[in-house]
Amino acid sequence: MNYEKGNMKSKLLNHPIKATFRASSDVALVKYWGKKDERLRLPENGSISMVLDDLYTTTTVEFSPQYKNDEITIDEEREEDEYRRVSEHLDRIRKLAGVKLRAKVVSENSFPKSTGLSSSGSGFAALTLAASKSLGMNLERKQLSILARKASGSACRCVCGGFVEWIGGNSDQTSFSRTIFPARHWDLRDVVVVVNEEKKRVSSTAGHKSAESSPFFKIRKERIDEKIKMVKRAIKNKEFSELGELVEAEALEFHSILLTSNFSYIAWHPGTVEVMLKVEEMRSKGVEAYFTINTGFNVHLITLPKYEEKVIKGLENLALVKKFIRTKVGEEPKELREHLF
Ligand code: PMV
Repeated sequence: MNYEKGNMKSKLLNHPIKATFRASSDVALVKYWGKKDERLRLPENGSISMVLDDLYTTTTVEFSPQYKNDEITIDEEREEDEYRRVSEHLDRIRKLAGVKLRAKVVSENSFPKSTGLSSSGSGFAALTLAASKSLGMNLERKQLSILARKASGSACRCVCGGFVEWIGGNSDQTSFSRTIFPARHWDLRDVVVVVNEEKKRVSSTAGHKSAESSPFFKIRKERIDEKIKMVKRAIKNKEFSELGELVEAEALEFHSILLTSNFSYIAWHPGTVEVMLKVEEMRSKGVEAYFTINTGFNVHLITLPKYEEKVIKGLENLALVKKFIRTKVGEEPKELREHLF
């Protein structure tokens, strides 16, 4: 790590600064599911994702002696569970920096949070970047990824941009993400179909714990490295049908684990199924889009620019579709000059 604790502390106490970062969320093409180390948040397997330009979190952090406790506001609300998780992450960053100062954090999402669209990924990526910058730390991308991972698995991917691989690893320092192809490599689109804006019924934290109880999880683990290789190859060679088929099959495999673990979690709403069936029908008519779904009800449709309008036209009259969020592959997080407070 390229900063010195002692220097930073004295610099900080004299000059507390605010820092603001915008980080995008992502959609996993090969999912992270299950942890082999709960405390370090080491995943059972590596994963691949695509960062999403228009789904982002903006976060301002200021550490200062004027705050007696952490003051945390997310989307103009204060929720106890979120407060605890954010404050624990600030503790990790304080420990690393060797300071005890409390912080004010204000965070805003451009999309509905806790609905399976990975707001914890963008949220904890933006928090890690803004908090470490506010404390004057100058961490390399790999260290930012390792730090963000401890707060949320997907956040370790969201500190990067473009197409991202999280190398599962087997220790704190070997589990981190990196960009495998930049956003400009391939203009893929994601049409996020919102069918329900209610919060997910069960947190992914509880879900990860139950993965091992599915009889299919062992088979998934045996085959996943091969799947990761195939997905990377399809992205590298821009083979869209190949990628789409792999991504959709992966989503169904992931949901079969959810359905068959002791948790027995049906993560679909009637609208989710309506969209899945319609996508299959559209493909039979030559409009190529492929679905993937996380633990919320909403559906990501991965497609090419030439099909994007047709995908929307094909779905807009479905009874249970509420809205679309159209997005493309996003860049790595950005520091902003304008602060939220
Ligand atoms: O980062 P978490 O703990 O919210 O888990 C994310 C799990 C999935 O979204 C289902 C898959 C993934 O890789 O993002």
